[in-house]
Amino acid sequence: MGMTEGDKKYSGSLNHAMIDGPEGHAAQEYANHFGEPGRDDITKVYIRQRYDGYTAENQQSWQTLYDRQMAYLPEHASEVYLRGARAINLVRDHIPYLEGPKSVNHFLAPLTGWQSRAVPGYLPAKAFFACLARREFPTTVVIRPKESLDYLPEPDIFHDIFGHVPLHADPVFADFLQTYGKAALLTDDPYHTERLARLFWFTVEFGLIREGGKVKLYGSGLISSPGESKHALTSDKVDRRPFDLDTVCDTGFEIDHYQPILYVLESFEQLRDAMNSYATRLIDSAGKTAVHA
Ligand SMILES: [Fe+2]
Repeated sequence: MGMTEGDKKYSGSLNHAMIDGPEGHAAQEYANHFGEPGRDDITKVYIRQRYDGYTAENQQSWQTLYDRQMAYLPEHASEVYLRGARAINLVRDHIPYLEGPKSVNHFLAPLTGWQSRAVPGYLPAKAFFACLARREFPTTVVIRPKESLDYLPEPDIFHDIFGHVPLHADPVFADFLQTYGKAALLTDDPYHTERLARLFWFTVEFGLIREGGKVKLYGSGLISSPGESKHALTSDKVDRRPFDLDTVCDTGFEIDHYQPILYVLESFEQLRDAMNSYATRLIDSAGKTAVHA
């Protein structure tokens, strides 16, 4: 979500036809002011996925990325991810539909109630959390330019759908992510906001998990990155640490290079339980009511 036009780090150009226009501009404007008086309807940040706007080159980019990652992931991704990818009917032959009988949402809804919703660009933190709290995942609809298939610093639909959404089919992860959104909405304390951002980064985006005695990928930033998926598992420059909530929340991160520190879960129940305990702490400090999914 969002593009750094003034400081372009990638080659080629995004297909802006997908997000430009009055609908996209109105949604982005609403998102930028979400939470201000009269701006409390999160559904107004969503747009339609104007599917006809994808070019043949966009579709080719999806297929190339899909083929490359699916040659690697069956051996190296979490079984929970792979099961989810099958369950939502993630396929190589077209960029995913968000709506309709062939859409990922059609398959996802009966499993966990999660849905992917198209957004025009970067969402401020509160708007992002408000989506998660409703089991709705703000989804970038543009796809990276073909010159930048290996690396794009911003999310695109390959990162958001291929990388994130399969895990939303898992009931335990689904509960974790909603609780994360509800808990993050509870606090305005910058101390907790930073710690919650770190938790998201080292789990949802760059998490590893041990399955059957082997370390596997599940974080979307790894799953959707041809380069970093291999680096995360094989490089001796990566410090793979056991997951611990407070240790993770104490660890800073930088976004513009491969991650030198990664955290390894033993199960998604461990992550769900850690999030529930953090949510309880926030509730106690804020004097609010329960938010567990
Ligand atoms: Fe992401």
